[in-house]
Amino acid sequence: MKSQLNIDTYINDEVVNTNDQFLKDILDGLHQNPKHMQSKYFYDKKGDALFQEIMAMPEYYLTRCEMDIFQNKTQELAHIIIDDQSPFELVELGAGDASKSLHLLQYLKKAKSQFTYMPIDISGNILSVLDEKLHDNIPDLDITLLEGDYFDMLKKTSKLSARRKAVLFLGSNIGNMELHEAADFCKQLRKNLNKGDIVLVGFDLKKDPKIILNAYNDPKGVTAAFNLNLLERINKELKANFDLKQFEHYQNYDPLNGACRSYLVSLEDQNVNIENESFHFKKDEVIYMEVSQKFSIDDMEKLALSSGFKTINTITDSKEWFADTFWIAD
Ligand SMILES: C[S@@+](CC[C@H](N)C(=O)[O-])C[C@H]1O[C@@H](n2cnc3c(N)ncnc32)[C@H](O)[C@@H]1O
Repeated sequence: MKSQLNIDTYINDEVVNTNDQFLKDILDGLHQNPKHMQSKYFYDKKGDALFQEIMAMPEYYLTRCEMDIFQNKTQELAHIIIDDQSPFELVELGAGDASKSLHLLQYLKKAKSQFTYMPIDISGNILSVLDEKLHDNIPDLDITLLEGDYFDMLKKTSKLSARRKAVLFLGSNIGNMELHEAADFCKQLRKNLNKGDIVLVGFDLKKDPKIILNAYNDPKGVTAAFNLNLLERINKELKANFDLKQFEHYQNYDPLNGACRSYLVSLEDQNVNIENESFHFKKDEVIYMEVSQKFSIDDMEKLALSSGFKTINTITDSKEWFADTFWIAD
């Protein structure tokens, strides 16, 4: 895949190792109790398409709320980044199809800001989708596509350029980590930035528990298909024999700790082979697939302070269900 935009760079020199890492992570997760899978592996070509379908569902309010911020408060977002007036790199972690950042990018181009957009994503497929979309909408955008894990690629951005950074981490991707992992992630993020660099993080806020649960428990079963697709991917790529009909999606939300978790439940006693290993699943045993953590403004503030950032501004959507918060590296 090649970017058709101004900067024609595409970095994926670790690709030879990605399948070994996938196998290792899946086997490690299935040796744990409870069995666990890493949700970053949801995103193959079919997973990307299913996630785009999820974003368009009426129950999945997260995308619409953050879109409200990016469409209606674009100027406010942009000026925090460009008030400094020096050229910068706009890095996006887990950019997906960039449907929200597109509005900010258009504004920044019109304001004649000097920047390169550097979207990072573990899915090469979604980067192709993003590339095509940006080429159609902002033909003169400078862009460097980076396929790989967040920090491997963030380190590469520093090798490519010494300009100041503004980092986007949208969609409440940060919620797809356990709280202690999110704290470690933010500390590591700080270590990879320079004092004065800016971060914009999207957080899904704690709200009516029914609204949250419905967003991940849609009646058409798209979220279920998204979770089951990882078993299909493991079958295809790791020579496994999961019987998809014998696993069922289960979602729950705990309003006390803000964790919305997805599981796949084994419907019978069964064995599954992956490469040369065999795993036993008892009837009703669960595989823990993903957390989508919800936050209060206070939780966000504590996370910033404990990882070496200061909050500059927090912007919410009109319903106050979602918050995009700007941090500066202290
Ligand atoms: C929930 S989607 C959100 C996409 C986008 N940020 C948005 O708000 O619409 C998560 C995206 O992050 C990517 N991703 C997940 N884990 C990743 C990782 N460890 N490193 C790089 N990208 C990752 C996925 O491929 C996917 O495109």
